Amino acid sequence: MLRKFSIIAAVAGLLVATAAPALAAGHPEEPKKVDWSFNGPFGKFDQAQLQRGYKVYREVCSACHAASLLSFRNLGDKNGPFYDAKYPNSNNNPYVKAIAAEYQVSSIDEETGDTVQRPATSADRFPSPFPNEYAARASNGGALPPDLSVLAKAREGGPDYIYSLLTGYHEAPAGLTIDPTKHYNPYFPGDLSSAWSGDPKHVPHGGVIGMPPPLADDRVTYDDGTKATLDQEAKDVSAFLMWAAEPKMIERKEMGFSVLIYLLLMSGLLYASYRTVWRNESH
Ligand code: HEC
Repeated sequence: MLRKFSIIAAVAGLLVATAAPALAAGHPEEPKKVDWSFNGPFGKFDQAQLQRGYKVYREVCSACHAASLLSFRNLGDKNGPFYDAKYPNSNNNPYVKAIAAEYQVSSIDEETGDTVQRPATSADRFPSPFPNEYAARASNGGALPPDLSVLAKAREGGPDYIYSLLTGYHEAPAGLTIDPTKHYNPYFPGDLSSAWSGDPKHVPHGGVIGMPPPLADDRVTYDDGTKATLDQEAKDVSAFLMWAAEPKMIERKEMGFSVLIYLLLMSGLLYASYRTVWRNESH
């Protein structure tokens, strides 16, 4: 009895110990739960949504954020925003080629050795908006816009977090003093206790972020006629970033499902052969 109790106590202690640092590091608001098309074991990316999300990324986010792990041809891969069954090799997908050609990338002139600019091809990666980290910080009041390639998987809450952050900006509560170049956001992790002049027991959730609110109603015009509300843009770009972070999510789910079916059939078969082999034996 005593031993059982001490095991429970040890487990409880461990849980408290692991939870404590998370609390100490500030307490952002829990991200809003979005009913994504890709949630659940049979969820799939919504291709129209990915295309809209790409448009938001292209026209808004890519001015500051890199997505340097992403190649143009990925856009035309299976389950990707511009996948077309007619072009199983996405390098041949004319839409992908056209998107790539809108960008300039630097490359080396093989005759002179000089660095030159040329239109991107589907094999290139997305170019970064800034030549280096210093330039990125200098343009953003000292804050560094993180690379968005895998951010949706690197942050707790994933696409829910990104969506909540993008839609979560609001006036800083009275009593909070923040740098006028920064913005209050309840979903951004931070510790506001030193900037808070109110009741120390009620420090506001969240933190201050160096990113000005990037989205607003009609910030983009969607090609499919969807109304471009702030909420819609935030959902679409978050879904796009989830796809970018895990482009093979659908294949992974499908594979998991077929493995399960296989295991079920196999177990049935094994059980049936066991029954047959031992049919005439008394136990
Ligand atoms: C004007 C430049 C600019 C634009 C445009 C911009 N961002 Fe940012 N973003 C930043 C900066 C700078 C930071 C870092 C803020 C900080 O650390 O205080 C940031 C941070 C973020 C974060 C938080 C990352 C984290 O560490 O948790 C996310 C998510 C994000 N941006 C997504 C987006 C998306 C999606 C878009 C397009 C809709 C976008 N941003 C457009 C500059 C920008």
